[in-house]
Parts: sequence; C-alpha cells; structure tokens
Amino acid sequence: MGMTAAGGSTDLTAILLTEEQIAARVATLAEQLAQDYQGKCPLLIGVLKGSIVFLADLIRKMGIPLEIDLICVSSYGCNAQSSGRISLLKDVAADLTGRHVVLVEDIIDSGLTVAWLLETLRERQPASLAVVCLLNKPDRREVDVPINYTGFEIPDEFVVGYGLDFAEQYRYLPHVAVLRSQVP
Ligand code: PRP
Repeated sequence: MGMTAAGGSTDLTAILLTEEQIAARVATLAEQLAQDYQGKCPLLIGVLKGSIVFLADLIRKMGIPLEIDLICVSSYGCNAQSSGRISLLKDVAADLTGRHVVLVEDIIDSGLTVAWLLETLRERQPASLAVVCLLNKPDRREVDVPINYTGFEIPDEFVVGYGLDFAEQYRYLPHVAVLRSQVP
C-alpha cells in the first residue's frame, strides 16, 4: 500500500507477469536478436528511464558482440495530441551512421515516443533501425509504429515494475504488476 501523488492510497493488485515469465520471454527475444544481428555489432539504444532493466537483462542473454547507448526524451504529458511536444533531454553518444540500431523500449502505449524517436534517429542514416519492446499496449495506440520484436501484448491497465514506474516508484520490482487506485 502506498500513496498517490494526489494523496489517495494505491494498491499493487494482480501480478501481470512474473519474474520467471519475463525471464523466459527476454531469453527468447535475445535469441532472436542474436540470430538476426550476428556479425553486425548492433547498437542497442535504451530509452531512459524505464527500459534500463529490460536492456540490462536482454544484452546479457544475447551472447554476441554489441554496443549499448542511452537516450532520454521529454514526456509529452497526458493531454498531448501529437508528437510535436517531444524533445531530446539526453542524446546518444554514438555516431549512428551506418550502424545497425535497435531501439529498446519497456512499453509502447500511444506510440508517440517511438514514432518521434524513429523519425529523429532515421535522419542520422543508420544502416538499419529496429524496435524491440517488452510490453505492447495496442489498445492505446494513437499512431502506427513498426515493432520488430515484442515481449508481451498487454491489456490497457496501468502497469509498474521491471523498470516501469508510478511517480518514480516501483521500478525496482522484479515482476510487472497492475496498479489500481483506491480512491477513498
Ligand atoms: C514511457 C515508456 C516510453 C513511453 C511510451 O516512458 O518508457 O518511452 O512512455 O509511451 P507512448 O507510447 O505513449 O509514447 P515515460 O515517459 O513513462 O518515462 P520513463 O521511462 O522515464 O518512466
């Protein structure tokens, strides 16, 4: 039991994905990526902050030479109608020209963040640009985005854990849980 930003109490209800389920799926995704990127030394770019847990587990299961980098974009807030409000807070250090780039996301919701990132990174002329996401919420999509590798399709519930937060809390949970407010 915790407190919401508004002062109401919250409860972590059902575990949606256990630690074991996540580990098994991450291993499968890593195997697919390793096959597809063998000999290409891919650059995996994690989108801060949510993706770091997924990125850390994924790269340790891939077993091929690769590089990592990190990028951070501003959150557009709940009322944004377009990706026009997104901006870069922290850029990658690597030169993407001619690289095989894989964008690593924890969750794709409206799709606005990934759409903006793909457009922005494509201008840097990578040899290829793919997206891997752990969680996909297709019910919430506002813009079509190509997702090359998906961990799980999940229903439209507010989920936390395994990197995902609510007001910066719960990122440390080893599983993914559904968060429900209990408004008094
Ligand atoms: C989450 C997630 C994606 C984005 C997905 O990040 O990591 O980047 O939202 O939403 P979208 O598909 O609707 O654009 P968030 O802004 O919560 O930041 P965080 O990763 O630092 O928690």
